[in-house]
Amino acid sequence: MASAISSLPIERDAPVWTWFRAGGRADRLARPRSLEELRACLGCGDAVRVLGRGANLLVDDEGVGGLVVSLEAPVWREVRFGPRGRVVAGAGADLAKLIHQTSRRGLGGLEVLGGVPATVGGAVRMNAGGRYGEICEVVESVRAVTPGGEAVELSGEQAGFAYRSSALSGLIVVEVTFRLLQDEPSVLRNRLLAIMQAKKGSQPLSERSAGCCFKNPTLERDVEEVGRAGERIAAGLLIDRAGCKAMAVGGASVSERHANFIVAQREARARDVIELMGHVAERVEERFGVRLERELVVWGRGR
Ligand code: EPU
Repeated sequence: MASAISSLPIERDAPVWTWFRAGGRADRLARPRSLEELRACLGCGDAVRVLGRGANLLVDDEGVGGLVVSLEAPVWREVRFGPRGRVVAGAGADLAKLIHQTSRRGLGGLEVLGGVPATVGGAVRMNAGGRYGEICEVVESVRAVTPGGEAVELSGEQAGFAYRSSALSGLIVVEVTFRLLQDEPSVLRNRLLAIMQAKKGSQPLSERSAGCCFKNPTLERDVEEVGRAGERIAAGLLIDRAGCKAMAVGGASVSERHANFIVAQREARARDVIELMGHVAERVEERFGVRLERELVVWGRGR
């Protein structure tokens, strides 16, 4: 194990690319090229965090300690097409590319995630999705590695998928098997285009953001003019109705187009985003008595 990590290049003070294009760096970053090297990373004694596409991530301005691991070597990005709609994709495979590949082959199910920028591993771990569907609907099984380096395989059921979460958080996902359904490529293409079009119309896609910052909460009690207990309500609607649109801290502001998006100006610091999220959550709680939970993942020292 020691030999694998000593031969593995570790970058120090490495930039971490996120869609916000703001925030700090990683003390140490590794790009393992094999399962053996990944195991060596896990055995190095530091906290290990896996970096995906950085689309739902913010690194605090002071940076992040431990070891950040990026599964971007070719071995993690392989995609294999099997019989009866099975597609096996490495955790580092690009979800957007996979959606196009599968749709072109007439394999349906992933097109509902059109416009979600992610690696396959990140999307599955967070159970990415939206109003058109969630990735868990087409996950048959997940291969992962435990913090102790043991290889495990979980069925979709064992993966414990729930709204924007899974029971995979303590594991490093390495490969996912999807079970897709045969459909007409033209039908899938049109569905994908329609979803992308709808998102373009309602989300600030060309700005620097990490998509939705908060999960859509389930109401614990009836809230007048909002919904009934047990209903899941769009955080964007609550933030908007609480009058938060265009609220700003430093270089970060609540998007005018979609209130659950925080957009960053060039000079924005991670702190601006974090503080603004705090103000937004406070305002929503004051107005509706609903506590918003972060969807955005924040890495920092001690968090
Ligand atoms: N709304 C407002 N004001 C706003 C934004 C939205 O009133 O500023 C209202 C809309 O009018 C609509 C409702 O809120 O009635 C829901 O809005 P939308 O259709 O945009 O869906 P969402 O629940 O806000 C979810 C996902 C998105 C995903 C879309 C479409 C969450 C937290 N968000 O958004 O995912 O793109 O559905 O599939 O589940 C993400 O997770 O990063 C993300 C962007």
